[in-house]
Amino acid sequence: MKDDMIHSEAAHEERLDSRSDYRLLHSQLEELLKEETFYVSAMSNASALLMESLPDLNWAGFYLMKDAQLVVGPFQGRPACIHIPLGKGVCGHAAEKDQTTVVPDVHSFPGHIACDSASRSEIVIPLHDPREHVTAVLDIDSPVPDRFSREDREGLETFAAILEQRIRFR
Ligand code: SME
Repeated sequence: MKDDMIHSEAAHEERLDSRSDYRLLHSQLEELLKEETFYVSAMSNASALLMESLPDLNWAGFYLMKDAQLVVGPFQGRPACIHIPLGKGVCGHAAEKDQTTVVPDVHSFPGHIACDSASRSEIVIPLHDPREHVTAVLDIDSPVPDRFSREDREGLETFAAILEQRIRFR
């Protein structure tokens, strides 16, 4: 019983810490966007910020909608597959369904595209234009199984929402 209490207090503190980490991450993104909102600059620094700030990632970046498929955009990590058709892989699924997709184990996601064999779990979040069309997805991969908690999902969805409201494509 006592051990459980200690464990749950520790878990609570950990959650509080990572909530404030996400608040910091969001304000760092806002700072970067004050200087430049052009999508190449904004997405490049956003990828670098994620890779620097979040532990246990092996890829963080963007795929952009172009000619009804996804094409790789600014990212940090190993060179990645360039084109992803809608509906294919986790990115294509998230873009087609227009929904955040969290995959705790990529080996059990049918059609997962293994750009880096180290990837074990991932989260993909769609970004939209003002008319609510999907313009890009934020793709974050981890070598750790089940890396992305509900709190990560919320923090990263807010991160993506800040970006989608501010970036300009020209
Ligand atoms: N894993 C992705 C492909 C992109 S790479 O991981 C960078 C997918 O299945 O959509």
